Amino acid sequence: MIDLRQAWLVGPVEIPTRLVLAPMAGVSVQAFRRQGRRFGAGLVCSEMVSCAGIEHRNERTLGYLRVADDEHPLAIQLFGSDPDSMAEAARMVEAAGADLVDLNFGCPVRKVTKTGAGATLLDDPDRAARIVSAIARAVDIPVSVKLRRGLGNGSRDCLRVGPLLVDAGASSLTLHPRSAQQMYTGAADHALTAELVSLVDVPVVASGDIDSRARAQAVLARTGAAAVMVGRAAQGNPWVLEEIVGGDRREPSREEVVAELVLFVRETVRELGERRASSFLKKFYGWYLGRGRFPRPFKQELVVLDSTEEVERRLIAAAPGALELIERLESEIPSGDEVTLELPISIYGGG
Ligand SMILES: Cc1cc2nc3c(=O)[nH]c(=O)nc-3n(C[C@H](O)[C@H](O)[C@H](O)COP(=O)(O)O)c2cc1C
Repeated sequence: MIDLRQAWLVGPVEIPTRLVLAPMAGVSVQAFRRQGRRFGAGLVCSEMVSCAGIEHRNERTLGYLRVADDEHPLAIQLFGSDPDSMAEAARMVEAAGADLVDLNFGCPVRKVTKTGAGATLLDDPDRAARIVSAIARAVDIPVSVKLRRGLGNGSRDCLRVGPLLVDAGASSLTLHPRSAQQMYTGAADHALTAELVSLVDVPVVASGDIDSRARAQAVLARTGAAAVMVGRAAQGNPWVLEEIVGGDRREPSREEVVAELVLFVRETVRELGERRASSFLKKFYGWYLGRGRFPRPFKQELVVLDSTEEVERRLIAAAPGALELIERLESEIPSGDEVTLELPISIYGGG
């Protein structure tokens, strides 16, 4: 058995467990990341943040740079294609308080790839390396890069590009060994992760299809990766993180599910405001209440409610014992207001 409660390093940054919570666009809000840390993730990551958005001081984009005290260690992920503007954005990520700047060289979505960013960079190793070296020169925090295997099915480009990125200054690599073409179909081919581990002398994180302790153990043993990353399996299911780092596999009680969801709703409203939060949260209702935890029509009831306050009332009515748990959790963890730092003035101020 490999002990996932072992610390490891990315450059000088100590990561307390060998479990990383995946960056997921439309999912990885502060509430998700703080919950992930509480349930055993050693490192959490923001969703991908547009370097152009930062450059243009887009208000919503700058909101993604908000870091709470209890998230550390935390990576903020950038996507873009121009080395100079990526370096400028990385400086802002550092100023915002991130422990690592992560670069997205894997996003397969057309809106991103058509700008030369995301997975397209796997086809342009020279530009990819220039981006990494510009950022490594611009900031003191370590630079990590997240890759897919390549653009087309069967591609092995990550094995060519990965070592170049390390030479350019990357302190760690994460590989999701599917091609961009595959999106999320087929299986992650971790034989490729093992090959990448053998080619570089920085830590490699294995991402893709890890949804249990047994799977995490198998991937770590097979690949020699420093850590595993968990994404979809943790949506509405922080308990899987607890299990993966070494706890027992157990189904949470209804009260626990409701308590975590209510906390998540409250924090997300604080972060995004009621209007944005109430549509953002709808997918989470299905994720939390599914998996046989509540009858299916209950989720349907929640998604049509007008306000998150009503959602909270319905949830607590369905599991009144959750109230006590919510109170306990809120007294144990720092409140959002205490830990949700405002952005440093310098970030808003241009510069
Ligand atoms: C909804 C969703 C959004 C994602 N957004 C990002 C992202 O912003 N940046 C990134 O590097 N990967 C992103 N990914 C990929 C995940 O980080 C991860 O590599 C992938 O889901 C495979 O891991 P899993 O099988 O544990 O989900 C996203 C995945 C999903 C499902």
